[in-house]
Amino acid sequence: MEYILVEQALPFTIPISPCNNFVDEVDSLPPSAPPNTGEQSSAEWVRLIFHDFITADVVAGTGGLDASIGFESERAENIGKHFINDTLTFFDVFVNAYVSLADMIALGAIMSLRTCSGLNAETELKVGRIDATKAGPSGVPQAFTDLTTTLATFETAGFNQSEAITAVACGHSLGGVHYVNFLSIVGEDVVTINNTDGVSTFDSTPDVFDNIVIKEYLAGTGKCGGPLVIGSNVTTRSDLRLFQSDNNLTIKSLLSPDDFHTKCGYIFQRMIDTVPTAVTLSEPVVPQKWKITTYDYQLRQDGTLSISGNIRYLCDLGLNCPAPSTLSYTFATLNEPTGTFSTLPLPTVQGRVPGDTCGSFFSTDAPFFGNFSSYCFSNNITSSTTAIIVQNEYSYPLFPSVFVAQSDSSIAQTITIINDTSFVLNTTLKLSAAALTWIVKDAKTLDVVFYQKGPGPACQQSVSNIFNMECTGITESEGSLERLGTVGEYTIFTGTQTWVGGAGLQAVQVGYQGVWSMSVATLGLVLNTTVV
Ligand code: HEM
Repeated sequence: MEYILVEQALPFTIPISPCNNFVDEVDSLPPSAPPNTGEQSSAEWVRLIFHDFITADVVAGTGGLDASIGFESERAENIGKHFINDTLTFFDVFVNAYVSLADMIALGAIMSLRTCSGLNAETELKVGRIDATKAGPSGVPQAFTDLTTTLATFETAGFNQSEAITAVACGHSLGGVHYVNFLSIVGEDVVTINNTDGVSTFDSTPDVFDNIVIKEYLAGTGKCGGPLVIGSNVTTRSDLRLFQSDNNLTIKSLLSPDDFHTKCGYIFQRMIDTVPTAVTLSEPVVPQKWKITTYDYQLRQDGTLSISGNIRYLCDLGLNCPAPSTLSYTFATLNEPTGTFSTLPLPTVQGRVPGDTCGSFFSTDAPFFGNFSSYCFSNNITSSTTAIIVQNEYSYPLFPSVFVAQSDSSIAQTITIINDTSFVLNTTLKLSAAALTWIVKDAKTLDVVFYQKGPGPACQQSVSNIFNMECTGITESEGSLERLGTVGEYTIFTGTQTWVGGAGLQAVQVGYQGVWSMSVATLGLVLNTTVV
């Protein structure tokens, strides 16, 4: 998540950069900015946190940002064409054994606010949210909900009157109300060929997270606060009722851009950090100056062990971040419990762009955290290596005692056509792993844990194209690999596992009697599809 946050990594940022972009996951349409429908992914991502968190009961310690919204898209209170299905279908791709959907919802809102404000807003990412396994209670305030009920709902979620007003005013800086969703709030006259869903925005800058909504509301200029303030239907003027409920005192406190961003940052932080008591959130994710973003071990036929991967350097120099001048490794053996060996300096600038192969370099702008460059490294190491150290500043633990041999592993899918309307899809994983012989001795098998998304073929989203929360859970299953032979200090184990359907494989862990390898979160295995 730090990687997505700091490097504004593609493809995560496509729907929200620029801020008026829209990606229609449900209909599988390409991104467009602005789309002629009047939809905006950044606004949908921000609206989503309100609809997920607001049914929290902080005294009972239940609800909050827990992705229960994934079970609730059919409720009338969550109306809004695709805002849940589009968003969660997109986020689900990033969910794995380590990252929950609820954490992705938090990250999506934070990154939307940053992209749309151009500011490194005061909202920090904490992680550790746990996804709900069923729907939460209903009760999201709607435009026609009376003031007392709305304030009571916010109160139960831990927000007093002023905080509720701030939350709504901040949220309604982006996007607007759509005719197709709310026929009684927005008139059909708004619908045009370039605005087919008929969005009526809250302010004149719906794709900028700014205080224009406050200014226009107070001055009665521009959009005057939008359809929930000046809509012809008095019953659905929910923003007006809220804003006036303390004689506009809270709204006036948001009039300066600085106050707006500080107070909105604080209130968004509160919304995304409202979690069930069973959840303990991490410390804020801090951008790392150095980071090993990927790595992989290779065991050659002659028994030599090497490691290759990528080092990111986040600097604030306004130019390419220079390659680290030193790279060293620590090791520990029975004879030498601590030791270090150094390698040659990394290559200098070679004009790498993202996606290029190793051995080169690229530099790009991380808008909120400065420039970063990414350097490949590749070194021979020993099996007793315990860490890689970059520039004597950054240390990352290594554990090459047991690992998946990625270059000897592969994953392939086979589609068998039964007749014109049906087919069978099988996924086959060929897995190879290496383990130090002194650890596994003469063991015949090595343990494997497969981490998969969802319970199986019923969860193939392409079938219905509608987000199915049941499919997001990560399940664990166990297997084993057979002993093949030895190479150098290692014993090699291999095996084949076949699943009916897409498998949804997220990670594989190999180990022996409690000595486990690190999981391979993104398998990095080649996906081959064959039709037979
Ligand atoms: C009393 C509380 C609230 C009510 C009654 C309310 C109502 C609405 C309604 C009716 C829409 C139009 C949705 C559409 O047509 O697609 C909307 C949009 C939106 N709301 Fe709220 N809202 C409330 C609170 C909040 C809060 C606290 C946030 C902050 C996260 C928020 C963020 C948004 C955003 C960003 C949009 C624009 C969505 C888009 O353009 O797709 N709302 N709201």
